[in-house]
Amino acid sequence: MRPATAIVTGGGRGIGEAVARALTARGLAVTVFARTGAELAQVVARGEAALAVTGDVSSEADVARLLHEHERRLGPCDLLVNNAGVLVRGAVDALAPAEWRRSLEVNLTGPFLCARVVLPGMKARRTGRIVNVASISATLGTAEASAYNAAKWGLLGLTRCLAEELRPFGVQAMAVSPGSVDTAMLRQTTFAPQMLPDDVAKVVVFAALDAPDASTGANLEVYG
Ligand SMILES: NC(=O)c1ccc[n+]([C@@H]2O[C@H](COP(=O)([O-])OP(=O)(O)OC[C@H]3O[C@@H](n4cnc5c(N)ncnc54)[C@H](OP(=O)(O)O)[C@@H]3O)[C@@H](O)[C@H]2O)c1
Repeated sequence: MRPATAIVTGGGRGIGEAVARALTARGLAVTVFARTGAELAQVVARGEAALAVTGDVSSEADVARLLHEHERRLGPCDLLVNNAGVLVRGAVDALAPAEWRRSLEVNLTGPFLCARVVLPGMKARRTGRIVNVASISATLGTAEASAYNAAKWGLLGLTRCLAEELRPFGVQAMAVSPGSVDTAMLRQTTFAPQMLPDDVAKVVVFAALDAPDASTGANLEVYG
């Protein structure tokens, strides 16, 4: 069945905004979700998404409200793009435990919370797809990025578990793992950009709409 609606977390700027715009261009009704309402409002005003919901992916209550608002306004959620993320940097012995926990909460627990609210509907309808925006940091180690690396390795693990768990229900899970993308997040680092958000969005759209069901569990690496 052709997906009609999607939720894109972190859809206020960067890769998430580009994904929302690309999915809207393919005819889906898209909800964008992030903490900064002003950025989300601009995305909707530009016609790149149909609905904005403000909240934090690490909050169970906010994520429950996200699905409630999405279903009330746009209908059942056929596609979830777990894109919201934060980069927490610092050597292990200099990293505050609270910063480590924040990275895990946003980059890993957030996708888990979002998946667990959309999955009952997808499983009942026996259709749906989840695309997790991981990173090339999901398969390697980077000095002073332990909290980010650990969360993204975990996100890839979650993706592969979801693929196994959901195969009997006709629901797929895939990861897209970009290298250096020209966004606000990359500008926190010294890495040079290798590609634009629109380049990654094309791969996310491929994973979400065009890749065959047998691709479930795949990690699509995007080096630019
Ligand atoms: N840029 C790169 O080079 C690169 C490479 C590999 C992977 N990635 C991944 O790509 C994804 C998007 O990153 P980006 O580069 O586009 O970064 P970005 O420009 O900083 O955008 C991040 C988005 O996530 C949202 N977000 C952050 N924390 C959130 C929270 N707790 N709850 C809800 N939304 C939250 C942000 O909005 P608010 O701050 O308003 O909440 C924003 O909309 C991330 O998962 C990142 O790890 C990026």
